[in-house]
Amino acid sequence: MLSVEENELLTRVGPGTAMGNAFRRFWLPFLLSDELQVDAAPRRVRLLGEDLIAFRDTEGRPGLVDRYCPHRRADLYFGRVEQCGIRCAYHGWKFDVNGNAMDMPAEPANTPLLSEAKIKSYPMRDWGGVLWAYMGDPATMPAEVPQFEWGTVPAHRRVVSKRLQQNNYAQAVEGGIDSSHVGILHSLLEPEPEAPFKQRQLPIVPNLPLMAKDTAPRLFVRDTDYGFMIGARRNASEAEYYWRVTQFLLPFYTMIARWDGEPIVGHAWTPIDDYNTWTFTMTWHPERDFRDGERDPHQIHVAVEDEVDFLPTANIKNDYLIDREHQRLHSMTGIMGIGAQDAAIQESMGPIVDRSRETLGSADAAIVNFRRRLLKMAREMEAGVSPIAPAQPDLYRVRSAGMVLERGVDFAEGLADRMKAG
Ligand code: FES
Ligand SMILES: [Fe+2]
Repeated sequence: MLSVEENELLTRVGPGTAMGNAFRRFWLPFLLSDELQVDAAPRRVRLLGEDLIAFRDTEGRPGLVDRYCPHRRADLYFGRVEQCGIRCAYHGWKFDVNGNAMDMPAEPANTPLLSEAKIKSYPMRDWGGVLWAYMGDPATMPAEVPQFEWGTVPAHRRVVSKRLQQNNYAQAVEGGIDSSHVGILHSLLEPEPEAPFKQRQLPIVPNLPLMAKDTAPRLFVRDTDYGFMIGARRNASEAEYYWRVTQFLLPFYTMIARWDGEPIVGHAWTPIDDYNTWTFTMTWHPERDFRDGERDPHQIHVAVEDEVDFLPTANIKNDYLIDREHQRLHSMTGIMGIGAQDAAIQESMGPIVDRSRETLGSADAAIVNFRRRLLKMAREMEAGVSPIAPAQPDLYRVRSAGMVLERGVDFAEGLADRMKAG
């Protein structure tokens, strides 16, 4: 439970907020790389509550600029992307990806405005199939984006998708680190459903017998420089524990526990504004090509209506296509797909959950730690102390892991090798 003030501090990310300012110290993923094509239509972007326009110039460089032209504030979405810049359709002012004015056809040829006028622009990176922006103080811009393993594998060994989620980023992250819902929200009932429903909701956990042996795992949360790791411990035998370890990485990344040899799945929950989030889902295999069905294990990626708004086909307006007969007979939710089930339940709390009205239990230890960590970061930012993780992109080279260990072995030590990304 948080006070109303703490909840505000945690969830408000717009310009001038402490959390928004802290997030601006990180590179932020916000578009898929192929959303921007050379000299093609620009994209409307909203990021941390700011309205912007993204485009890719003739040289292939991505640019992110203010949505509104500094001349008389026309919307640059209607502009023309041409010859290494974007030209406002109203009076033709043209800007490059760095925000410099290139041309003002309606002004005298020697106008000083040409060297004086600038449009606000933010640096971008194109890495791992994703476009990233840095919206903070240029003096503290990290040289590299976080070096997640999914960005370093060959492109055919990763799948990156994006969808709109209509709620605050924090409750989405809290869903991503909430291990105690997995065996309940995503569960199937007896008798198991038939195809095609079953294929869409295979058990999320490859080692169900071990999970079933002990349904109330003990959680151990351990802070790290990148965020924290969560060890979920279940009894496996008299002498052994079954451990599943997942990570939270600052400021809004989560991973799903991996079983040996399987692909790994992670999420980025990028705040569009206080009420909307881009949910990026990454599946990758660090060692080999995908086999059948592995590109989207358990339908964690969600089908979207189009690649402009990225609104899921099953969404809040159609009750996520809930099938009450399936819910009665076969599954907890009657909603198809793990990703859609997560989205439904996270959006069901409203755009910003009122954390002053919750009742937390011991299974919520990771959620408590997430809030503590982020509130600390925001308060430090208010006091002028920047987060340290962005300057250390190699901190992000980690993997989730799952393994049976002898009872006396510390999980972080016993799994250390498996949690290192290649
Ligand atoms: S408003 Fe953009 S050039 Fe005039
Ligand atoms: Fe889930």
